[in-house]
Amino acid sequence: MGRQFPFSNPSILLLFLTGVTIFSCSFNVVGGVIGVSWGRQTSHRLIPSMVVDLLLQNGIRHLKIFSTSENVLEAFAGGDIAITVTLPNEGLKHIVNTGVAAYWLQQKIRKNQNKNINITCLYVGSQPFSAFYRTETYDNAVDTLKIIQQALRLNGYDTVVATTPHFTDVLKPGIMKPSEADFRPDLKEKMVEFVSVLNASNAPFVMDVFPIHFVAENKWDIEFAFLDNKSNFSIEDNGHVYTNVFEFVYDSFVTAITKAGAPNLKVIVGQIGWPTDGFPGANVANAERFFREFIPFVKSTKGTPLRPGISIDVYIHSLVDENLSRISLGAFQRHWGLYTSYGEPKYKIDFSGAHRDIYPTTAKGVVLMPKRWCVFKGDKTNLTKVENQVSRACAEADCTSLLPGGLCSQLTFEQNVSYAFNRYFQMNSQYSTNGSSCDFENLATVVTEDPSVGTCKFPVEILAAERAETDGLMKRSRAGERLQASSSSSIVLSLLLIFLLRLI
Ligand SMILES: *[C@@H]1O[C@H](CO)[C@@H](O)[C@H](O)[C@H]1NC(C)=O
Ligand SMILES: *[C@@H]1O[C@H](CO)[C@@H](O)[C@H](O)[C@H]1NC(C)=O
Ligand SMILES: *[C@@H]1O[C@H](CO)[C@@H](O)[C@H](O)[C@H]1NC(C)=O
Ligand SMILES: *[C@@H]1O[C@H](CO)[C@@H](O)[C@H](O)[C@H]1NC(C)=O
Ligand SMILES: *[C@@H]1O[C@H](CO)[C@@H](O)[C@H](O)[C@H]1NC(C)=O
Ligand SMILES: *[C@@H]1O[C@H](CO)[C@@H](O)[C@H](O)[C@H]1NC(C)=O
Ligand SMILES: *[C@@H]1O[C@H](CO)[C@@H](O)[C@H](O)[C@H]1NC(C)=O
Ligand SMILES: *[C@@H]1O[C@H](CO)[C@@H](O)[C@H](O)[C@H]1NC(C)=O
Repeated sequence: MGRQFPFSNPSILLLFLTGVTIFSCSFNVVGGVIGVSWGRQTSHRLIPSMVVDLLLQNGIRHLKIFSTSENVLEAFAGGDIAITVTLPNEGLKHIVNTGVAAYWLQQKIRKNQNKNINITCLYVGSQPFSAFYRTETYDNAVDTLKIIQQALRLNGYDTVVATTPHFTDVLKPGIMKPSEADFRPDLKEKMVEFVSVLNASNAPFVMDVFPIHFVAENKWDIEFAFLDNKSNFSIEDNGHVYTNVFEFVYDSFVTAITKAGAPNLKVIVGQIGWPTDGFPGANVANAERFFREFIPFVKSTKGTPLRPGISIDVYIHSLVDENLSRISLGAFQRHWGLYTSYGEPKYKIDFSGAHRDIYPTTAKGVVLMPKRWCVFKGDKTNLTKVENQVSRACAEADCTSLLPGGLCSQLTFEQNVSYAFNRYFQMNSQYSTNGSSCDFENLATVVTEDPSVGTCKFPVEILAAERAETDGLMKRSRAGERLQASSSSSIVLSLLLIFLLRLI
């Protein structure tokens, strides 16, 4: 529950006495919680009710979403899955006072709680100071968190806790020992304020970490990213030995918050994962290897050198691949999924931490479109034309698997072109009434024989997918906008109005 002084508030005391559990962003469950985050920046999404089923089948009782999407939340009504919702960064500036905050909370949290949706935690912004958003600064993130927390208190939301997740790049870079850790000098003032706000409200500090990326940034041996002790590289710090990057990063955050004056602040993990494409070492074998020891580590209550014996709540990033996700750090950002975007598990993982050699269950009810692919006919007489058409396809479709290190990086030129054309054709739902999505100035044709090359799969579109975009607050790529626009301009207009209403 993360509340160190639960009895300081009479209404909370009452809840305790009447035997009602208080929920939060962290749960004081022995062995820690293993939750999953579900991002939906993908052109064809699993239907929310499929995801409810998927989580239940896999024994996952904690979910984080990056919005407050009504249709997603409704699928969780009456179930016991605890949900963390997010006020996206773009919304921070709109929460100008507790009145506005109270209205937003009423619309987004209370209305849903009244439908028996178990919202326990609210993330106010997401990594607002990360280099991801270098072009946009969210200086008001701390103020918004304060306003929201005040509105939660004033309006009796005793079961909801608000906090903000931070990426590892809020830490000073280049340190060699956790004891040297601190917040980055340019962010220090803000982060200290953040920490004291969390400390005062008994909300946990939420850290997001991507081990494969962190070791690469530090030019460390990739073995150090795993927890199976195969790394020859370890770090000694005041008598503590660090054999993996997770404990290193966790204790670096512990050190930074201690230096900020809050040594007892609870630290949980909002996102951790291992991508399967688009980065050196990003593949299913390594992802499986990472989780094989990471989940038992979390469940063991071993803790870290600076926090031995504590339970760490962890949200795995992410449920499915998101092929419209930003790629500012690299193509791997589109390949975080435990599942492919059509709901097939990619590798074995035992969420219970019992080392069972099992695949998670497959999503039920996903229907694919007919087995039709769009391929290059092979006419290379005008290479400029071919290249222009590939660029046109990849400007909208997701071609990240073609990039160096990707699963499809070994294709021949012709196969490359086919891959790009097919991606575009599928994302347009194989639209070919007059050849328009598989034409490419007469360079392409539709075939019924699977052109996949080894592990490089040429996908077929999902039919039973959710495409309506009603949560509005996320950044959308051009492809997403185009999908929306193609529905009808009046729908787009009313969606825009809904976005505005939904925000404030
Ligand atoms: C909501 O989630 C919390 C945390 O997992 C759980 O303890 C509680 O039983 C859930 N509430 C309901 C009504 O299912
Ligand atoms: C954090 O809370 C503890 C206990 O209430 C208090 O002693 C400490 O000064 C607080 N630290 C900050 C930075 O607010
Ligand atoms: C790795 O080594 C540490 C420290 O010796 C130990 O606590 C841990 O259980 C080991 N993990 C595995 C998977 O062998
Ligand atoms: C680690 O050390 C062992 C034994 O000294 C050696 O065989 C192995 O190649 C080393 N591994 C790496 C990744 O350096
Ligand atoms: C090749 O294609 C480009 C782009 O479609 C076009 O501008 C150019 O005229 C073509 N060149 C020839 C020789 O046909
Ligand atoms: C295939 O496409 C990728 C991405 O555009 C490019 O990096 C690679 O060089 C291409 N390979 C061939 C053989 O043309
Ligand atoms: C995203 O992935 C799905 C499933 O593989 C695919 O059908 C869809 O066309 C992809 N979207 C884009 C924009 O590439
Ligand atoms: C046929 O394709 C063209 C673009 O190539 C498009 O402008 C036109 O609307 C399409 N016609 C039909 C009937 O869909």
